[in-house]
Amino acid sequence: MTDRYCVVGHPIGHSKSPQIHAAFATQTQQDIDYQAIEAPLEGFVTTMQAFFAQGGRGANVTVPFKQQAYEWADTLTERARRAGAVNTLVKQSDGSLLGDNTDGAGLVTDLHYHHVALRDKRIMVVGAGGAARGVLLPLLEQEPALLMIVNRTEQKAQQLAAAFGEAGPITSHAVDKPMVAPVDVIINATSASLHQSHPPLPQGAIGPATTVYDMVYQAGCTTSNQWAQRQGAGRCLDGLGMLVEQAAESFAIWRGCRPQTERVREQLREALS
Ligand code: ATR
Repeated sequence: MTDRYCVVGHPIGHSKSPQIHAAFATQTQQDIDYQAIEAPLEGFVTTMQAFFAQGGRGANVTVPFKQQAYEWADTLTERARRAGAVNTLVKQSDGSLLGDNTDGAGLVTDLHYHHVALRDKRIMVVGAGGAARGVLLPLLEQEPALLMIVNRTEQKAQQLAAAFGEAGPITSHAVDKPMVAPVDVIINATSASLHQSHPPLPQGAIGPATTVYDMVYQAGCTTSNQWAQRQGAGRCLDGLGMLVEQAAESFAIWRGCRPQTERVREQLREALS
């Protein structure tokens, strides 16, 4: 029998996950059905209960339901607990639902794919919302020299740094405090590019050896990355690879085999341009 999976969100019309998972299934010869489901804003749990009652084996969860999935899951992985959000639900053999979060692993795998060094490097995470929280633990696991959180609303950066204090070398840095030296890697976890904008950064954060990674992706260069290039960033990357890698990680958890991502990356990039 074909195993059923889905991505649930609101809205969900533009989700690329069905296309990505269909490609993974073909490549690995797995017999799965993966659909996009739009749950009503007040109907996440009801929609998911129906999906799993009808034999669903797993689900991806996207905006705005990641926190509800975190609260609803029966058990959580450590990385989901740390993220405070669930993007992957897995039906267990005893019928319970495990909540996991593959977003941070997706980011780290994509950075490795692009040969961006993280160990002993100075990393700046910009933003202090759910997207930022979701990647902090996987980034700290890469053993950076220091991870700095910068946010337009400084208090939120301070709170986030405090919450992860014992997980590694992490601190907050005020936007209006200039940097002594440029950082090695900047992870832009804000939604600024979606608003055709860029986040404010401390003066001197970007240098010619800095890699800037915008978790958003857009046709061509994202708005924030265009700005970062003008500031002299050595290299700019967007979040398309992260999207594919977080999906590959979910697929591997569900199916026990890891798909190759290169061709899917190329297909999505072509479709964007
Ligand atoms: P998500 O869960 O996707 O991270 P969020 O919780 O709304 O979404 O957080 C959005 C993040 O992007 C926040 O850090 C926000 O900064 P504030 O905390 O100051 O609101 C940041 N952000 C959004 N638009 C921005 C912009 N134009 N410039 C700078 N930061 C922006």
